Amino acid sequence: MIKRSISILGLVLLTQLAPAQTPIDVKGAFAFAAQQYEGMLQSHPDTTKFPQSTNPDGSPRDMKSSWWCSGFFGGSLWYLFEQTGDPKWKDAAHKWTMAVAKEQHNTGTHDLGFMLYCPFGNGYRLTKNPQYRTIMLTGAQSLSTRFRPDYGVIKSWNSFKDKAGEKYDYPVIIDNMMNLEFLFWAARESGDKRLRDLSVTHANQTLKNHFRPDASSYHVICYGDGGKVLARRTHQGYADESAWARGQAWALYGYTTMYRETKDKTYLQQAQRIADFFLNHPNLPADKIPYWDFNAPGIPNEERDASAGAIASSALLELSTYGGPSAKKYYQSAVQMLESLSGPAYRAKVGENNHFILKHSVGHKPGKSEIDVPLVYADYYYLEALLRYDALRKKRS
Ligand code: GLY
Repeated sequence: MIKRSISILGLVLLTQLAPAQTPIDVKGAFAFAAQQYEGMLQSHPDTTKFPQSTNPDGSPRDMKSSWWCSGFFGGSLWYLFEQTGDPKWKDAAHKWTMAVAKEQHNTGTHDLGFMLYCPFGNGYRLTKNPQYRTIMLTGAQSLSTRFRPDYGVIKSWNSFKDKAGEKYDYPVIIDNMMNLEFLFWAARESGDKRLRDLSVTHANQTLKNHFRPDASSYHVICYGDGGKVLARRTHQGYADESAWARGQAWALYGYTTMYRETKDKTYLQQAQRIADFFLNHPNLPADKIPYWDFNAPGIPNEERDASAGAIASSALLELSTYGGPSAKKYYQSAVQMLESLSGPAYRAKVGENNHFILKHSVGHKPGKSEIDVPLVYADYYYLEALLRYDALRKKRS
């Protein structure tokens, strides 16, 4: 979720960061997003059908509230309200936020951070509606039931079968780092310190088990008795030993958030190492939007993943405020990603793209699903990154 405060250190650093360059037209980008999402609201009168993507036949692909992406549309509507101040977006955001409310009781998924904190968290930050707070606190307790203290990690999927057909009962995916911001919020808000402690434990276990020496991340770690690592696998990446692009972006965002929440330098260093892996990778294209997997076999004839670019851009903007020798590079790279996404190669034309903002993301290529399509979460993190960029520039001026 968007971070409001920028530290004094961050501000001082940022005054030295950006070279004179034409600023991104944030207002224009939001005006375009507003046009697209007005169309999206008109084409989606039923709040049980959540905008997700485009089907292979070109029709809109909608999902149910139990799908991990159900909170992103409401979250993006809150970002539109935040940027424009227009109450029509607040009404629409409320409607699509409340449409996810029943998931607060869902203990069968680890994705409650995405599903609840993106819509309700932004809604609560902007309106202080107490109903949102209550729903999130219930949801945080539901999520915490998936944490086993003897394993030290929150369980992601209920089970996972690898490509060889081996079945595992306690898989944890790198994406799970994205839940921790939600749990930190809930710990602060409710006084339940257990939620904070389990988040720290999860982040430490993940740091220990999920990363290779070059700071790239595995997708799936399969845990067994006592928290023993049984296998390191991929699900959405090209291969077990490859670097699935969105996974790297989740890791970068997750450890940047961990540093914000704890001020523990171990997490900052980890976030910086992940950023360096991402930005220095020889397969990262000049426009800084990665291929769907850094090791996809057909590069350069492979699909890009705009969602990974948007997530990474948002994370790098925050990371750039925490100093270090590469802070300037993080900022400039994040801006370059935003410039790319805001240009004609990735941004749709008005009324096209089933009303999504961005084109060219990949959901699950090995599963032959959502390849080179719009994805609702690419839009969400793009809008978030634009707001972060705007806030940083306003602080500087
Ligand atoms: N969290 C699932 C994905 O990134 O596709």
